[in-house]
Amino acid sequence: MLLLLSFLTILPYSFAQDTDRDLKQYVQMMNLKGLPAPRPKNEALYQLGLRLFYDNQLSGKNNISCHACHSLSGFSGDTLPLSVGEGAEGLAKNRMQSQGVLIPRHTPALYNLGLAGVSSLFWDGRIMKHPQGGWLTPEDGLNGPTPKLKNIADTLDGLLAAQALFPMASPEEMLGQGSTLSRLEAWQAVMDRLLNGRLGASYKRFFREAFPGIENFNIGHAGNALAELERHHFLANNTPWDNYLRGESKFMTERMKKGATLFLSKASCTNCHSGDHLSSFGFQNIGIPQIGPGVKDGDDQGRSDYRFRVTPLRNIALTAPYMHSGVFSTMWEVIDHYEHPIRSLHEFNWHPKHPNYREDLKLDERPETMQARIKTLAQNLPRHLDLTTDEKKDLYCFLMVGLTDLKNQADLTVKGVLDEIEDCSPRLIQ
Ligand code: HEC
Ligand code: HEC
Repeated sequence: MLLLLSFLTILPYSFAQDTDRDLKQYVQMMNLKGLPAPRPKNEALYQLGLRLFYDNQLSGKNNISCHACHSLSGFSGDTLPLSVGEGAEGLAKNRMQSQGVLIPRHTPALYNLGLAGVSSLFWDGRIMKHPQGGWLTPEDGLNGPTPKLKNIADTLDGLLAAQALFPMASPEEMLGQGSTLSRLEAWQAVMDRLLNGRLGASYKRFFREAFPGIENFNIGHAGNALAELERHHFLANNTPWDNYLRGESKFMTERMKKGATLFLSKASCTNCHSGDHLSSFGFQNIGIPQIGPGVKDGDDQGRSDYRFRVTPLRNIALTAPYMHSGVFSTMWEVIDHYEHPIRSLHEFNWHPKHPNYREDLKLDERPETMQARIKTLAQNLPRHLDLTTDEKKDLYCFLMVGLTDLKNQADLTVKGVLDEIEDCSPRLIQ
């Protein structure tokens, strides 16, 4: 009897050891270490960034801020499938129903973009480093080792700062529809409003505190401040998974470890979601259905051939919907897509009952574009995964809880996004 009892208690323990051993092997093979810490916070720069992020003066018609789409309190997104630009009213669903102009792409989450290792930004990687030095952006004047707009280009302290300039110069996002200003003119107008407008005196003080010794400020300084805010406010580098990789395994349940093992092996997710950010920052076509106006007449081809940037994965439980077109509302829909991408693309059903439905959010079902999407599907995307129901739960649990920062675990319950699954509850820390 005693023997049987001890056998029964040892059994699950030894299974657990197997899971751990398997996972550690993959971790070692892929040389995963957990996300790095951000560079130390510059409080004055952060405070300036916080003001700017909320400030409508960054927009041409004084009617929209970064926060309208990337909510500071709402996990860096807008909860909508596609983003709604300048002229819309309210937040979240009200914004969608306000008939503001649709931006053809989903508002991405902003977690960890200020950490080392992020080498492309935007769904199609429009912001990168130039291979010969300097920046590679949609604005020629900023690009390369000898940029025309040298003052601004030399001020920018990273990709995230460079990115921050572009929403302000986009007519649909912030500049204002119908505006004919060039980017440079738009940026100069923003700086003029900030420094000489009704809050000019206090902004001058904030800029000087953030950049001691400098008197002439350009839009690059504003970009750096916005990036500092994003870097430290939208940080999720302390997840159960990152802790596990640093040697502290108590936040990862057995189920999460199994899910992580699947992610790194049988489910082939690391074919693309590789490295500590769980992204190669490269571009792949994974056959995502398209809704809405789309870049290029409802046929958004991303970087080319329907390739979009591999999304880095942290806090994703809190940032639905998913993908460049925001078509998947839950993590289960994402997992089902990977289960059989071609079937998922053919059978995807986006119908008027969807809470976010709007006439102009119609699904693209043209046979020629559907065919083109399938023809250029990534070679390294498995055509089907044979996951058991239990394995899908493991994967779900890893993605939803294992990749959520410890400081945000309680939000999983508050937001009610987590399905009840055994051995998959938030890791509440005292
Ligand atoms: C109208 C809504 C809207 C506003 C306002 C807006 N954004 Fe965005 N943001 C988006 C959308 C949509 C994208 C994706 C566009 C694309 O990839 O083509 C995006 C992309 C980004 C990215 C790239 C994220 C990634 O992972 O590649 C960053 C960073 C960002 N925005 C920061 C900002 C900042 C800073 C501001 C204010 C200066 C701002 N955004 C204003 C909707 C908005
Ligand atoms: C062939 C490359 C590839 C493989 C393999 C792959 N992904 Fe992706 N993943 C991508 C790309 C590219 C995107 C963005 C696609 C888009 O928006 O059109 C993406 C997006 C996602 C997103 C959405 C993130 C967001 O915030 O919108 C999740 C979640 C995700 N992948 C999880 C997984 C999981 C889990 C697996 C394994 C079952 C996996 N991926 C396998 C390339 C890949």
